[in-house]
Amino acid sequence: MRFFDFTHLCILTMTLLASRGYSATLADAKNLYDDIFRNYSADYRPNQNQSKNVYISLQIHPTNFLALDELKHSFSFNSWFNLSWVDEQLVWNPADHGNFKLIHTPSSKIWKPSLEILNSLTKREIFGDDQSKVDILNNGRVTWLPSAVVETACRVDVSFFPFDEQNCSVIIRSIYLSSEMWLDGKIVLRDFSDNGGWQLKDTDLSYIYNADYQSLIATFKMKRRPTFYVQTIILPIMVLSFLNVMTFWLPDDSGEKISFATSVLLSLTVFLSITSGLLPQTSDKPVSITIYISVLLGMSGLTVLVAILLQYRSAKKYREAIARNNGTGHPKIRYISDIVRFKMSKVEDINCSFDDMRSSRLDSALFGVFFTVWVLCSTLFLSQVYFQYSV
Ligand SMILES: *[C@@H]1O[C@H](CO)[C@@H](O)[C@H](O)[C@H]1NC(C)=O
Ligand SMILES: *[C@@H]1O[C@H](CO)[C@@H](O)[C@H](O)[C@H]1NC(C)=O
Ligand SMILES: *[C@@H]1O[C@H](CO)[C@@H](O)[C@H](O)[C@H]1NC(C)=O
Ligand SMILES: *[C@@H]1O[C@H](CO)[C@@H](O)[C@H](O)[C@H]1NC(C)=O
Repeated sequence: MRFFDFTHLCILTMTLLASRGYSATLADAKNLYDDIFRNYSADYRPNQNQSKNVYISLQIHPTNFLALDELKHSFSFNSWFNLSWVDEQLVWNPADHGNFKLIHTPSSKIWKPSLEILNSLTKREIFGDDQSKVDILNNGRVTWLPSAVVETACRVDVSFFPFDEQNCSVIIRSIYLSSEMWLDGKIVLRDFSDNGGWQLKDTDLSYIYNADYQSLIATFKMKRRPTFYVQTIILPIMVLSFLNVMTFWLPDDSGEKISFATSVLLSLTVFLSITSGLLPQTSDKPVSITIYISVLLGMSGLTVLVAILLQYRSAKKYREAIARNNGTGHPKIRYISDIVRFKMSKVEDINCSFDDMRSSRLDSALFGVFFTVWVLCSTLFLSQVYFQYSV
C-alpha cells in the first residue's frame, strides 16, 4: 500500500515537472496544429472503427424562458448546450508537442454532430452558423459549448386560464442513424432563472426512435403565475356581476334600474373581449373563464330585460291608478318622470301601498334567484380552477 502511494506520488510529481519544466513555443503550437489537422477530414464520423457509433453527451442548460405565446402556440427559450464526444482523429501525445494537453479551434474546422430541431418555428439546424470555439483534449475529447435561442411549436391548452399549466417540448434529432451516433441528453438547470409570468415546475427527457433515427425530447412543464390575471380580470368581473345582482334593490320608480343594469352589461362585455384577446382562437376545448364570463353576461342581459319589464309594469300600474283618480284634475301624463313627480305630490290620493309591497316582494324574489345563480356559478368556477391550480 505504502509502495503504491509512493509510486503514485512519483508519477504525479513527474507529470507536474514535465508540464512545468517545458514552456511551449509558438512553433510547438503550429507543429501540433499541422500534425493533427494534416490528414483531418470533417466529413467523416470520427471513429477509427466505423461500425461503432459516436457517443455524444448533450447537456441542455436553459438560462431563461423568453416567451410562451398562447396566440401563436409558440415557446421560446435561451439556452447554451454542452456537447461532448471523442474524436479519434484528434489524439496526440503531449510530450511530442510541447506538452500541449488542450487546444482550441474554431468549431468549423472539425467534425460536429449535426443536430436539428424538428419542431422549430425558425431554422431547423440550430448550430448551423455557430462560430464558437471547441476545446480539444489530447485524448480526443472534444467539448463544444454553442448557445442558441430556440423557438418551438407548443400546443397550448388554456382550458383553465389563468390557472393553467403547459408542457412545451424541444425535439432534437441528429442527421445520423442511431447506429452511427448516440445522443445522451441531460437538462441542467444550474443557470436557469425563472420568469415573472411562468414558473418552471419540472423537466423531463425522453427518447423516441423513428425509422432508425433517435430523437431526444426535452419537455419543460410550466405553471402560469395567475396573480396578475386574478387582479385585473377575475376580481373585477366578480365585483361587476355582484353589482348586477344588486340592481333589484334599486327602487322601481327611480328609473335607474335599466341604465344601471345596462352599464354593468357593457362593462362585462369589455371584460369578455379583453379575455378573448388573451386566448388563442381555437374551439377544441371549452375555456372555463370565457364560459364563466358568458354566463355572467347572460345573467346581466336577463337583468336588463327584467328591469325593463318591471319598469313597464310599474308605469302601467301608475297609469291605471291615475285613470282611477281621473276626476281629481291631474295634468296629462307623458313620461315616467311625470309619474314620479305625480306620485311624489299625490301620495295621499292614490292607494298604492298594497302594490308597492307586492313589487318589493317580487324584487326580493328576483334578487334571491339571481344572487343564488351568481353564487353557484362563481363557486363552480373558482373551485374548478382552484382544484386545477392546487394539484
Ligand atoms: C497523411 O496522409 C498521407 C497520405 O495521404 C500519409 O502519407 C501520411 O502518413 C498521413 N499522415 C498522418 C499523420 O496520418
Ligand atoms: C468494430 O466494431 C464492431 C462493433 O463493436 C466490432 O464487432 C468489430 O470487431 C470492430 N472492428 C474492429 C476492426 O475493431
Ligand atoms: C461538458 O460536458 C462534459 C461531459 O459531460 C463535462 O466533462 C464538462 O465539464 C462539461 N463542461 C461544462 C462547461 O459544463
Ligand atoms: C404535462 O405533463 C404531465 C406529466 O407528464 C401531465 O400530467 C400533464 O397533464 C401535462 N399537462 C398538459 C397541459 O399537457
